[in-house]
Amino acid sequence: MLVLGLSGSPRRGANSETLLDWALEGAQGEGAQTEKLVISEMAIAPCRDCDECQAAGECTIHDDMDLIYPKIPEAAALIFASPVYFRGVTAQAKALIDRCNYLWIRKYLLHQPVASQKRPGLFIATAGQDRPGEFEPSIATVRSFFATADVDYVGELLFPGMDEAGSIRNHPSAREQALAAGSRLVSLSRGGSWPRLTRGKEEAPTVTDWRPIGVVRNNIKEPMVYGWETVVSELVVNPELAPAVEGVEDYSHLVVVTWMHRVPWGARGLLRIHPKDRQEIPLMGVFATRTQHRPNPIGMAVVRLLERKGNILQVVGLDAIDGTPILDIKPHVPYYDSPTDVKLPRWTKHP
Ligand SMILES: Cc1cc2nc3c(=O)[nH]c(=O)nc-3n(C[C@H](O)[C@H](O)[C@H](O)COP(=O)(O)O)c2cc1C
Repeated sequence: MLVLGLSGSPRRGANSETLLDWALEGAQGEGAQTEKLVISEMAIAPCRDCDECQAAGECTIHDDMDLIYPKIPEAAALIFASPVYFRGVTAQAKALIDRCNYLWIRKYLLHQPVASQKRPGLFIATAGQDRPGEFEPSIATVRSFFATADVDYVGELLFPGMDEAGSIRNHPSAREQALAAGSRLVSLSRGGSWPRLTRGKEEAPTVTDWRPIGVVRNNIKEPMVYGWETVVSELVVNPELAPAVEGVEDYSHLVVVTWMHRVPWGARGLLRIHPKDRQEIPLMGVFATRTQHRPNPIGMAVVRLLERKGNILQVVGLDAIDGTPILDIKPHVPYYDSPTDVKLPRWTKHP
């Protein structure tokens, strides 16, 4: 099986290409054959919207896309890497994507198959800035490309604050995340299951047969470390489940279980971390910490219930961003949830 890596950076061996190399290494570790194509070193003319592909059934511009076209349907998994340039993908990467308009025509107008089956795809991106929403336009573009190429967008590795060419090598867990993502991609392409619940409808979990019962609404658009105690959120329970929340108003506190949908896919492969991101605290198994980097990024918080209005519960203190899917809500019952003879490791008391 072939895992195809497409590198969109014109800067050779820099951040996004290094991540791609690591992810491909992870795929090789699972026995996959890999191939990396460096888009900036290929001659790829932009799409001219000549519409000739409609009649010809293929692109009539002949350049290095002739080498790439057959590899797209052949690949059992795809990894697309691009830095953020003016909030989008690079011009080189975009030229390749636009030239896949022929696949779009084929799929949506001519109703011809692009590949024999859907394949998993991973997006890797780096950015110089660390600003909210920096990756969103690139994600939208790559999702659209993947959908056209019959590739299932299963996850992303996004690294902001990476301006220097070698910055990614100083990141404490980037290599581990990318290796894990590459190996997981192979297991997915072999039909392995992994609960996925991210932004796209297509990725709602079927394997585990769970579904969100609602969504968190608040003003927090990006993950943050501190300051959640005062955040007021609405738990908007799906209207068809409204009867299920009747009676919760008799409790002062609720346990809210969420799916932390923005945890990067690769971070789910981490097994040990330095708690609180502090190197002086020894590595700890992730299940011995409350980190969001865990195989199933499930969030759990005890929150104060302010008010119930029908299917909407107003709560304070939930550490979840706007749009987070809710998996479950339970009343907090001290008798069950608050033992008195509690023992804690010393590091938890670090400020
Ligand atoms: C033309 C250009 C435009 C860029 N635009 C952005 C941008 O809009 N936002 C950002 O965060 N970084 C921007 N950057 C910085 C790159 O995203 C960052 O350096 C990235 O890590 C480069 O990836 P590479 O090391 O794989 O080449 C830009 C860099 C260049 C050269």
